[in-house]
Amino acid sequence: MSRSSGWRHKAINVDAMRRLARRKLPRPVFDFADGGAETEWTLRRNEGAFARKALVPRPLNGAAQRDLSTTLFRHRLSMPLMIGPTGLAGLFWPDGELCSARAAAAAGIGYCLSHGSVCTIEELAALRTEPRWMQVFVYRDRGLTREFTDRAAAAGYHALVLTVDNQLLGNRERDLRNGFGIPPRFTPWQLLAMAPQLPWLWRMRNALPRLTMGSYLREGSREELAALAGRLASLLDPSMDWDDVRALREQWKGPLLLKGILHPDEARQATALGVDGLIVSNHGGRQLDGAISSIEALPGIVAAARSARPDLPILIDGGIRRGADLAKALALGATAGLIGRPQLWGLATAGEAGVAHLLEIYRREFDRAMGLLGAARVDELGPDLLAEAPPLG
Ligand SMILES: Cc1cc2nc3c(=O)[nH]c(=O)nc-3n(C[C@H](O)[C@H](O)[C@H](O)COP(=O)(O)O)c2cc1C
Repeated sequence: MSRSSGWRHKAINVDAMRRLARRKLPRPVFDFADGGAETEWTLRRNEGAFARKALVPRPLNGAAQRDLSTTLFRHRLSMPLMIGPTGLAGLFWPDGELCSARAAAAAGIGYCLSHGSVCTIEELAALRTEPRWMQVFVYRDRGLTREFTDRAAAAGYHALVLTVDNQLLGNRERDLRNGFGIPPRFTPWQLLAMAPQLPWLWRMRNALPRLTMGSYLREGSREELAALAGRLASLLDPSMDWDDVRALREQWKGPLLLKGILHPDEARQATALGVDGLIVSNHGGRQLDGAISSIEALPGIVAAARSARPDLPILIDGGIRRGADLAKALALGATAGLIGRPQLWGLATAGEAGVAHLLEIYRREFDRAMGLLGAARVDELGPDLLAEAPPLG
């Protein structure tokens, strides 16, 4: 068996890809992606809450032919899934963001670039993959938010995502234990301990020394901006409020989404302000530990937002590890799901090929779940196909 077919053989599902990534990445890097805030209660709950929803199939519907596609802001996606924004994807594989965006485009789905990507806004756009979305924050210096937004518009991004749940950085204790900071700088001892992950270290030998958040760099001021990325926490403004959403709504002419919405009143307010979409998310359990899981929050958001705007796109992320999880989210009213960590596990496993493989797993599983449920189209997934399933014993 060749080396490449070796990993493919093992990577039979998303959790298997996580295990492969754990073996291939140095501990501080794996933990940076895998970990959550504090006791990781919300992180666990994101996945656990999917297990408390049971699917109730209607096989006699006869769904031999299935159309998994869906339309999102005028883009036809081959399935209702996107790759969500994850900072420093280029830490997992050289040019990680570009690899993931290419794999997403080849699979016919969208890609959202993080504010904290290693590549720049413009480098990703140069791939001309579609749809490409850009994620921004509200900074103390509102000029920086406006600048990122202008650059995204100039580079032809199709939607803007304002992440609202990260204005104070979550308390990620695995990173503290591992001494992992942003941008990461490894001590000689840490590098020595990475001997078992030599292939990763070798692959990253050129990328690691210049690893930073590319979009923050200004020409000729490399040092200053590497430090700036390190000071990210002090750049973000916890006093962000609805006026900032209004300002962004005025500036950005394309679809605007808010990411990190968990409270129905916020969904209502966002809709009233003319936001074009919501992403139900708790940042993958990396911010407020104890926060409600995304799938538990979804029905409240759907009810609140769609009473005013019945066709409002509502996306969800957090703990989507199976095609059946995606089916459950759609049955509860989500338009599409996003994945965060799994794409990093795909990258760590085999770069672009790893992400392509991961997306194929999601497609196969989602397709099979639809077929077994008796749903021929994604709009046939509704709450009638779900029941509450309290945990066993
Ligand atoms: C390593 C890592 C970096 C992330 N960086 C960002 C970011 O820059 N901006 C953002 O809005 N969300 C970020 N997120 C959150 C993801 O977009 C997403 O909400 C979360 O990972 C979804 O949960 P999942 O990992 O269970 O799929 C990050 C998540 C991870 C794991």
